[in-house]
Amino acid sequence: MTEYYIGLMSGTSMDGLDAVLVDFSQQRPQFIAHHHEPLPLDLAQQLHQLCQLNGDQELHNYAQADRDFGRYSASVVKHLLQQQQLTAKQIVAIGSHGQTVRHQPFGQPSYTLQLGDPNSIASLTGIAVVADFRRKDIALGGQGAPLVPAFHQAVFAEANHSRVILNLGGIANITVLPGASEQVSGFDTGPANTLLDQWYSYCHPLATERFDRDGAFAAQGQVQSDLLARLLSAEFFLRAAPKSTGRDDFNLAWLQQYLRGHEALADVQATLTELTAVSVANAIAGLSFNASRPLEQVFVCGGGVYNQTLMKALQRHLPDQQLLSTAQLGVQPQHVEAMAFAWLAYCFIHRLPANLPAVTGASRRAVLGGLYLAE
Ligand SMILES: Nc1ncnc2c1ncn2[C@@H]1O[C@H](COP(=O)(O)OP(=O)(O)OP(=O)(O)O)[C@@H](O)[C@H]1O
Ligand SMILES: [Mg+2]
Repeated sequence: MTEYYIGLMSGTSMDGLDAVLVDFSQQRPQFIAHHHEPLPLDLAQQLHQLCQLNGDQELHNYAQADRDFGRYSASVVKHLLQQQQLTAKQIVAIGSHGQTVRHQPFGQPSYTLQLGDPNSIASLTGIAVVADFRRKDIALGGQGAPLVPAFHQAVFAEANHSRVILNLGGIANITVLPGASEQVSGFDTGPANTLLDQWYSYCHPLATERFDRDGAFAAQGQVQSDLLARLLSAEFFLRAAPKSTGRDDFNLAWLQQYLRGHEALADVQATLTELTAVSVANAIAGLSFNASRPLEQVFVCGGGVYNQTLMKALQRHLPDQQLLSTAQLGVQPQHVEAMAFAWLAYCFIHRLPANLPAVTGASRRAVLGGLYLAE
């Protein structure tokens, strides 16, 4: 008997929705299929606007984008089902992250906001939806993020080796798997693709591509060490974990306050790419490991793994570690985060707690999410 779940993830890069079909009937989650659908341009523009403060008619625009993203999510699920010749009845549940439009874990009070109406997804697909994964952790005093370390632990941990899993999504986050029975930790290290994409699109307003493919544009520029130092002085990099971040902290307006106005465009792209590499390397350098299990391998997932300029910079700053793709551990780098949300839905259905207080800072472990029935 199979136990199929679908995971839906669209991160801060807002590049599109990743949908994965996962079978949980075996001891380890089995990947079955993946479908990625780029975010339609008009919906992307709507969402970009919602991520900025002081937009006009925020509530109205929010409510419409919530419905639109829900319907778009449902269409991606239907495509995946069709591709696999499966019916709704064969899927236990969909785990939908939704699209983050605000993330204020250090606010008073703190909050995080994901849109993508789960009622629409459930009604249009005929499949139960588990959604709203982050707010229970926030309610318990946590950051509500990152949530993926528990999944990384479930699928990537190994008793005899220390491992770091590095997700280069819109934001970069690390999961520290110290081996044996030692406590797993993890946190956001700072911006990755969200800032790279935003600067690239700003420099190439007419391009159809919305990211710096292979890091080619960054490779044309020179890292500006004075700009890099100014960017690294930002408060987020100096904070101790638990910490998490988003477009609220790292966006074009944030970047522009550090520019002196005379930098060449490709130099800024190169410097932002270096910023991601250095902030990740600094975070890893600050970790300590049991002497019998030194950190030798860092496994990378997320779209940033395809940015060669970024990967070369990272390897330069992590000379003592081998930089590998999670594909080496049996999971393609672009599937990991969506699989995590299929797993989070699985945990909810089985009433298993899924947050790690050592990661998020929540007061206790808890079952995450809410259920939206199809019937
Ligand atoms: N060939 C490539 N070259 C350079 N960058 C790439 C390439 N392919 C993907 N990317 C980058 O990866 C990004 C998408 O990555 P991903 O889907 O992991 O991010 P995300 O949706 O923000 O994820 P997360 O769920 O981790 O927040 C794109 O926006 C782009 O910047
Ligand atoms: Mg994505």
